[in-house]
Amino acid sequence: MRTLACADCHMPYVREGGVKYSSHKVGSPLEDIQNTCLTCHRESEEEFKQIVKRKLERKNELARAAAAALAKAHFEAAKAWELGATAEEMAPALLDIRHGQWRWDFGVASHGGFFHAPEETLRILATAIHKGQSARIKLRTVLARHGAADYEAPGFSSKEEAQALIGLPMDKLVAEKMQFLV
Ligand code: HEC
Ligand code: HEC
Repeated sequence: MRTLACADCHMPYVREGGVKYSSHKVGSPLEDIQNTCLTCHRESEEEFKQIVKRKLERKNELARAAAAALAKAHFEAAKAWELGATAEEMAPALLDIRHGQWRWDFGVASHGGFFHAPEETLRILATAIHKGQSARIKLRTVLARHGAADYEAPGFSSKEEAQALIGLPMDKLVAEKMQFLV
């Protein structure tokens, strides 16, 4: 099997008035499934959309689990600092958080990433969860040493709730960004 070329998805052939040419319209290939994906994939447009949706849901589930583990680890690290943990005590957990955070970011920041390399994206997100949990186990020991073995990170069920918990001034930051863009 030949490998897919970028143009297979990003510059599909389109027909106009009997003329076949390669589209240079830059946009998401998902907006034109008929010409970009269904040239090779043989399902109906509706079926194919459902398949893609299901696959994306799996990726999003892993991405959410990674974000949740890393966010909890951040809260636990903050508590440990607050209780007087030393940089030396914190170093191994912080390294895990950093590793997990990079992997999570790499897995979600590029919109096309999942379509370009589905299995690799899932693998990276799984390792992000692993690193986040590994940090949490290490932080548990640090917290116990500082008399907070039963510390529980505050609950949150969305990015907005987590932002509010750490007092991130989102409105102000968005306003500043809009100013920057002008
Ligand atoms: C199997 C089809 C497919 C192939 C082959 C493919 N892409 Fe993509 N690419 C996509 C899809 C689908 C998206 C957008 C997903 C979305 O809209 O969320 C995308 C998005 C992108 C983006 C935008 C990323 C972003 O963060 O917004 C870039 C850049 C890109 N592709 C470059 C490439 C390059 C370079 C190649 C060849 C090396 C390539 N693509 C091959 C399907 C493909
Ligand atoms: C040039 C032919 C071709 C085009 C165009 C194409 N695909 Fe594919 N796609 C394949 C082949 C062949 C496979 C199975 C082999 C593989 O997994 O590497 C596949 C596999 C897939 C898979 C399953 C991979 C997995 O491991 O989960 C998804 C999802 C997918 N394609 C989505 C898309 C989307 C979305 C587009 C349009 C943006 C697209 N493809 C365009 C040939 C194509």
